[in-house]
Amino acid sequence: MLSVEKWLEGKICMVTGAARGMGKALAMKYAEHGANVVLMDVNKESVEAAAKEIEALGVQALPLKVDVTSSLEINHALDEVESRFTAIDVLANCAGISTSSLILDVEEEEWDRVFNVNLKSVYLLSRRVAKNMINNNVKNGKIITISSQASKIGELGNGPYSASKAGVNSLTQVLGLELAEYGIAVNAVCPGYVNTEMIQQVFQKRGPIEGMTPKEYEETLTSQVPMKRMAEPEEIAEFMLFLSSEKANYITGVSLTIAGGKTII
Ligand SMILES: NC(=O)c1ccc[n+]([C@@H]2O[C@H](COP(=O)([O-])OP(=O)(O)OC[C@H]3O[C@@H](n4cnc5c(N)ncnc54)[C@H](O)[C@@H]3O)[C@@H](O)[C@H]2O)c1
Repeated sequence: MLSVEKWLEGKICMVTGAARGMGKALAMKYAEHGANVVLMDVNKESVEAAAKEIEALGVQALPLKVDVTSSLEINHALDEVESRFTAIDVLANCAGISTSSLILDVEEEEWDRVFNVNLKSVYLLSRRVAKNMINNNVKNGKIITISSQASKIGELGNGPYSASKAGVNSLTQVLGLELAEYGIAVNAVCPGYVNTEMIQQVFQKRGPIEGMTPKEYEETLTSQVPMKRMAEPEEIAEFMLFLSSEKANYITGVSLTIAGGKTII
């Protein structure tokens, strides 16, 4: 029988937004490739359920309820991770939220919330985890963040989100430069439309802004994708797995679009 090569055997991989969607798909891939996985999410029940699925794959899973906008909660969680596993090999920032308002209608509170979840959390977590990697002499550490095609093209009714994700791309470049001397590679992926609960909420809320039903809006958006469909979460996770592995040691500072040809930049 053909044995499957495991790319992350024995590594410690930490995933935020791990309760569902792309974060969960990635956590599952890490486990399939032999990693022990720390799962963080603001949704306690779901993140614990995801951890059970991961343990069934024969690796260790540590679920933690964490709001990634809180440095206090992050620091408590990292203390727990370090006392259980010591060194962290991979951080995947997958937690994110979207908006559905025109800039003229966006309240300051909504703007701040989106920036805190999508961008500030990446700074808080990357800083804390990079220090862990440096202090423990981790070889070829990896930090990967889910940005969005919205960071490159802007999206109507999605202003704070687009701007926050453009910030993620910029932070990825800076972190790539500053952490290169420690052998830590930092990259982002910029997905187009991905079949998760987040995109279904977008269809529900933004369709009416565009004068369409959610179904009409979904069909309009997918018809604009050259491949004529959304991505499945596993398709994004597959490339993030590659970026998390030793195969990608020399790739750093890039924000790569995965959008079925819609955004060719
Ligand atoms: N779905 C898409 O079409 C799409 C496209 C491009 C980029 N993205 C990005 O991909 C990432 C994952 O999105 P998804 O589609 O899987 O979304 P999702 O809504 O299915 O999952 C997001 C997860 O993040 C968690 N989360 C939200 N706020 C949090 C907080 N403050 N602290 C901790 N956890 C928090 C949620 O509980 C949820 O489990 C996000 O960063 C999103 O912006 C999504």
